[in-house]
Formats: sequence, structure tokens, C-alpha cells
Amino acid sequence: MTAAAGLVASSVLAWPRPRAAPASRGRGRFAPASAFHPDVSRAVDSLQGRFREVDLALALNSARVSAAFRAAHVAPHHFGGSTGYGHDDGGGREALDSVFAEIVGAEAAIVRPQFFSGTHAIACALFALLRPGHELLAVAGPPYDTLEEVIGIRGSANVGSLKDFGVAYREVPLAVDGGLDWDALANAVRPETGCAFIQRSCGYSWRKSLSISDIKRAIDLIKMQNPKCMVMVDNCYGEFVETSEPPMVGADLIAGSLIKNPGGTIAPCGGYVAGKKDLVAAAAARLSAPGLGVEFGSTPGHVMRSLFQGLFLAPQMVGEAVKGGLLIAEVMSNKGYRVQPLPRVPRHDIVQAVELGNRERLVAFCEVVQQTCPVGSFIKPTAGETPGYASEVIFADGTFIDGSTSELSCDGPLRDPYAVFCQGGTHWTQWALVLSAEIA
Ligand SMILES: Cc1ncc(COP(=O)(O)O)c(C=O)c1O
Repeated sequence: MTAAAGLVASSVLAWPRPRAAPASRGRGRFAPASAFHPDVSRAVDSLQGRFREVDLALALNSARVSAAFRAAHVAPHHFGGSTGYGHDDGGGREALDSVFAEIVGAEAAIVRPQFFSGTHAIACALFALLRPGHELLAVAGPPYDTLEEVIGIRGSANVGSLKDFGVAYREVPLAVDGGLDWDALANAVRPETGCAFIQRSCGYSWRKSLSISDIKRAIDLIKMQNPKCMVMVDNCYGEFVETSEPPMVGADLIAGSLIKNPGGTIAPCGGYVAGKKDLVAAAAARLSAPGLGVEFGSTPGHVMRSLFQGLFLAPQMVGEAVKGGLLIAEVMSNKGYRVQPLPRVPRHDIVQAVELGNRERLVAFCEVVQQTCPVGSFIKPTAGETPGYASEVIFADGTFIDGSTSELSCDGPLRDPYAVFCQGGTHWTQWALVLSAEIA
């Protein structure tokens, strides 16, 4: 992004509320002017039933998270942090790993600030699962852009991709409706398929995100063909959207980022891998080195506390982001745009895509989001090259944590169909303000 002075958010206007109740009637009665455009207010009113459903799921997830904190006896000494090798961390790492594993229904987890990103955590998991001669099978169409170079289907040879290590790659394309192709999947797994890879969220594809029941059905189909084939789920953007997680339905390993859902907008960095104990240990060996394992790596105390606190807040933040997505779908489809997922359908991730159709509209939408953000609202987002991405990408992320997509943000690759992918927000009203500015 490049800074452009003078671009100030003019979007947060007070819209006159039709027939506001006179302030004099009744003690303390006060009807403020609405912060939202009337079309947005109408959409909000129509979504109250959906918002309640989201809150009910949120409460179940919060209860599971709280119970895991209590079971691990989380206490202030876990927030002390460590330096150097990180041996003496007061049990913080172990407690965090055990809380996380319990929440997602896994045997074990490593939750570490030393994972740079979701891509890094996923790469560690893939290298833990695959060996020369194996095949990696992507069962939900092409994986997210940044994994292409990890797999070796783009980029230079000899950088240590899976392909460089003799791992073959194959894809099961999605069905025409954008979901899994069940017929193709029923015959896709071969004896040499060491790992089937399921991407839960849509990424930058115009496709359906997968429900936990879809993931279960896919895992059952894969294991029926080859019980030795490990199933790994890219869990980015899916955590806490439903009330169960992939290890609960048979996934061997999952991975994701802490500056997305499970960091609750508080975690300043990091990622996680969770699943079967031996596989998590193998992923830990990729993060550190064989033999060092997971009782290693220092974390400053304030970061350790943020990882715990963010995880505790995550269900709530995810709930707000889901409501934001419902609102975007409602308002933008009322304006005639194609949206994915469709308005009012159950959500399986926090991402809401809107097809804007051309470069100018995509850039303009990102500008409005950036202008509405609390940090760097005056910065003009510009499309550019980003490490890991083949296409130019534009990001609007005026966030407290750099690149955090659990905070209000949107982005999109500059390629057909010029879709913007919106996510995050610590309260749904942040998206209501963006949409009010967008349609003004
Ligand atoms: C589905 C999916 N997987 C993986 C990633 C990569 O995550 P990160 O940007 O943290 O590397 C993304 C990023 O948006 C994603 O959408």
C-alpha cells in the first residue's frame, strides 16, 4: 500500500432516522439519528432472526472454550513468557496447546507465535504428512494461491517445495455448483495418495465453503478407499463458525493462522497445527528441527497472554464477523451484485465474496473499506505484487495487527471476476458503516 495524504473518511455520516420519536416523550426516551443508510437499516432489521442463530452458536462455542480453559487450570503464571531457548515458560506453552487441542477435539496441538502465517503452518503440516513417492490430492479444487509454491505447481525449482522432494500432486476439480464433486471423489484416492487435502474456506475461488458435515462425508469417502491416506484440513477462516471442528469428524491434522479466527483479533501473530499426536510432533519438527520438538521456542509474556486472551474471545469475534458477512450479502445482493455465499444461507466460514465485475469497482470498494478502518484510514490501497501470490492483489486492512483478517478487512486478486473477499470486524456495525458509505 502507498500512503496518500488527504484521503479522509467522510463516510460515517448520521443518516436521518425516519419519524424519530420526540425526545420529550417519556422519561429518558431518546431516538438518535441512525448511523446507517436507510437501505442498510432495513437489511439489519430483516436479519435479526439470523443474528440470533449466530449468537446461539457463539454461546455454544464460548461454553466449549471456557470449559477448556478451566480444565487446563489456566492461571496468571502461564502469561509470564520466556526468553532464549524458552525452556522456562511456567507451563504457558503446554497449557495453551492443551486448551486448543481440547477446543478443536484433537489429541494434541502446537499453537505458536513462531508460525509466520497460515501458509507457514499448513506447509509444516504438509511436510509432516508427506514423503517422497507419495501423492498429495487436493479434493476441493485448487488450493489457496500461496500454497502453489509450497506444492511446487508454480515458482522456481529447487526451493524445497513438495515437488522438489518427490511428492506428486493431483486435484479433484469442484462440481459445477461450486461444491465437492462427490462422484469424482468416490474414486479419486490411490494407494500412493499419502494425504488428501481439504480446504474448508473458499480462498480466492468463487466456490462454496465446506460445512463440517461435508468435511465428514469427504473424510469417510477418502478413508473408505485408503484407510492409510491422511486427511489434512486447511482450517483458515472456518474456526468457530460452526459448533464443531474437523478433528471431531475424523481429520488427522488441521492448520491455520492466529491473525484470523482463533486469534480473536488480539493475537499479534502466529499459527497452529492440531490433530493426531504423532503428526503434530512431526509438524513441530518442521517448525523447529527434528529432535527439538515442541518444548522449545521463547515467547514474550505479553504475547503469551494475548494468545490465551484472543482464543478466549475468538467465538465472539467470529460471531460478529459472520453477522457482518450476512449483512454484506443482503445489502449487496439487493443492489444487484452476485454474492457468495448467498444471502441468509448458513455460513461455514467468515468470508463473504461479492463479484464487482471490474478492476475499478474492486479498487473503489477497497478504498471505502480502508477509509472506514480505524488505522491508516488516510492510506489509499493500491494493487500490487505480494510474495506467494501469482496475481496482483489489493488489500484494505486498516487493522491494529498488520494483515489481520479477523479485523474489518477485504481483499481480492486483480483477475476475473474481480470479486472482493470481505471478512472480520469486531462488531457487525462496522460493516453496516462501510455499506452505508459504499451505497451513499
Ligand atoms: C483458505 C485459505 N488458506 C490459507 C490462507 C493463507 O493464510 P496466510 O495469509 O495466513 O498465509 C488463506 C489466506 O487468506 C486462505 O484464505
